[in-house]
Amino acid sequence: MTNLRPYQGITPRLGQRVYIDEACVLVGDITLGDDASIWPLVAARGDVNRIIIGQRSNIQDGSVLHVTRRSTNNPEGYPLIIGDDVTVGHKAMLHGCTIGNRVLVGMGAIILDNVVVEDDVIIGAGSVVPPGKRLQAGYLYMGNPVRQARVLSEQELKFLPASADNYVRLKQEYLQQYEAGEKR
Ligand SMILES: CC(C)(COP(=O)(O)OP(=O)(O)OC[C@H]1O[C@@H](n2cnc3c(N)ncnc32)[C@H](O)[C@@H]1OP(=O)(O)O)[C@@H](O)C(=O)NCCC(=O)NCCS
Repeated sequence: MTNLRPYQGITPRLGQRVYIDEACVLVGDITLGDDASIWPLVAARGDVNRIIIGQRSNIQDGSVLHVTRRSTNNPEGYPLIIGDDVTVGHKAMLHGCTIGNRVLVGMGAIILDNVVVEDDVIIGAGSVVPPGKRLQAGYLYMGNPVRQARVLSEQELKFLPASADNYVRLKQEYLQQYEAGEKR
């Protein structure tokens, strides 16, 4: 696949049953967990640091994922770590941050370096999360700059893994369609 490109000898590593759309680009030190899915026009560049995407997580169309290099003042740099069952909505920008499990990143959200998003969080569409901020488990955040809006309801907490499941099912359909030889 030409959309999986090596950088300095490291090529993206894929778990089982992942779906990588033909129209995305993944470069370098990227690890994808089982059943993860990467949709059209995603650009993910694990060149100056690493990117890890957990099991059953989906990165939707047009999202951009990048990292910050190591330096004297910042020896680890900022890798990008995305947990399990995470939904990243269309055209989000995730840069050098850590996202927990069962998080929904709204469409067009921008998440900056050294942010930590704990488990079970929803980030509203179009939000901007400033560098170094920590978003607390179980809350909705939205706005620019992002603010804690309210506690998530039971229904929303159930929706978070369900959203990831929906994308696991959708990517299975895509995989089956292409395996059945339908034209790309
Ligand atoms: C934030 C969100 C979850 C709605 O939460 P909610 O509590 O139901 O919010 P409501 O629709 O009741 O609106 C409450 C207030 O927040 C505002 N608001 C809603 N979404 C907002 C957002 N993304 N950013 C800023 N303000 C927002 C509303 O305008 C309203 O303001 P008002 O009280 O001044 O009128 C939803 O708007 C959202 O952004 N979902 C993300 C969906 C997505 O991107 N999915 C990924 C692709 S599948």
